[in-house]
Amino acid sequence: SESLTVAELAKKLGREPSEIIKKLFMLGVMATINQELDKDAIELICAEYEVEVEEEILVDKTDLEVYFEPEDESLNEERPPVVTIMGHVDHGKTTLLDSIRHTKVTAGEAGGITQHIGAYQVVDNGKKITFLDTPGHAAFTTMRARGAKVTDLAIIVVAADDGVMPQTVEAINHAKAAEVPIIIAVNKMDKPSANPDRVMQELTEHGLVPEAWGGDTIFVPISALTGDGIDSLLEMILLVSEVGELKANPARRAIGTVIEAELDKGRGSVATLLVQDGTLNVGDPIVVGNTFGRVRAMVSDVGRRVKEAGPSTPVEITGLNDVPQAGDRFVVFEDEKTARQVGETRATSALQVQRSEKTRVTLDNLFDQL
Ligand code: GTP
Ligand code: MG
Repeated sequence: SESLTVAELAKKLGREPSEIIKKLFMLGVMATINQELDKDAIELICAEYEVEVEEEILVDKTDLEVYFEPEDESLNEERPPVVTIMGHVDHGKTTLLDSIRHTKVTAGEAGGITQHIGAYQVVDNGKKITFLDTPGHAAFTTMRARGAKVTDLAIIVVAADDGVMPQTVEAINHAKAAEVPIIIAVNKMDKPSANPDRVMQELTEHGLVPEAWGGDTIFVPISALTGDGIDSLLEMILLVSEVGELKANPARRAIGTVIEAELDKGRGSVATLLVQDGTLNVGDPIVVGNTFGRVRAMVSDVGRRVKEAGPSTPVEITGLNDVPQAGDRFVVFEDEKTARQVGETRATSALQVQRSEKTRVTLDNLFDQL
């Protein structure tokens, strides 16, 4: 949401609401404590206090974290890394994902790939890796804008015959902004025109210096087409993840993020969730974004019915009252009554925000009233 009430803004600025109301009055606006202010009006007030408006100031209206049980770090265990693949058009992202999936889906599950759920897990040397199969940029932009950090690591694919292109640079910027480690996959090495030195040279100009040249960026030459180098890439992913010491507590109630969601004719609201901490179980009372429900059924990334999903596991669920949005947070509650209460409150206030869009103070009507 791009708005805050006067009371919420006052809290964020560490001021009394009455003071904010006074400031608005000085600007010629009669406002009440529960009045919605739009982004421009917020910026104006913040400028009065010489406070820079960060995007974050506007997002935590959808903060579900407050309902999450307190952390007990002693119960933490290692969790699989969540990886996003990004890169320029046609540099081989999809081919790479396919190649990883088909070489690494555990034996016996190979025939089970019946559906596509926007995220999946592979096993390499007994260790799991979760890949987000959403377009990489979407995973970073929409979800980050909504306050959700879903990715632990970014793979940036650069075609060795084409070099660094505009979307390569965009991907680098997204990954840097999200403060996640970057691994460069220099793809299409099978092509006679492949020129990996040029890729390294060009990326050095963007601050990504290969280890071979004294830097600390990992470059892995691969061919997504032939499968060459895929094993090294997976090895590097696990290596970098180990450094990050990714931990979660499987014993707590689940919390995580919506990867995608839709309304299915037969099954109703269907949502792909990434469990980021805790374990999600069939039957769990859950609040997802501005909707709620009870987990009716869960399907794994290979189309299998499962009863539970631990940290870093993507899973498709049914049982929600409404369709949430990609990037929405979810939290499991102890009892259905509380989940319903919280869910209904959130649904109502989301509706109010929608309605008040028309009546709230905008920069335009603020100056109209001066
Ligand atoms: P968008 O989704 O459109 O951004 O493209 P993408 O990055 O997913 O590229 P995609 O995997 O669709 O590959 C584009 C083309 O490059 C296809 O024709 C692939 O077959 C080809 N390609 C991908 N990887 C390799 C490779 O390692 N070697 C060769 N020779 N061709 C490749
Ligand atoms: Mg693609």
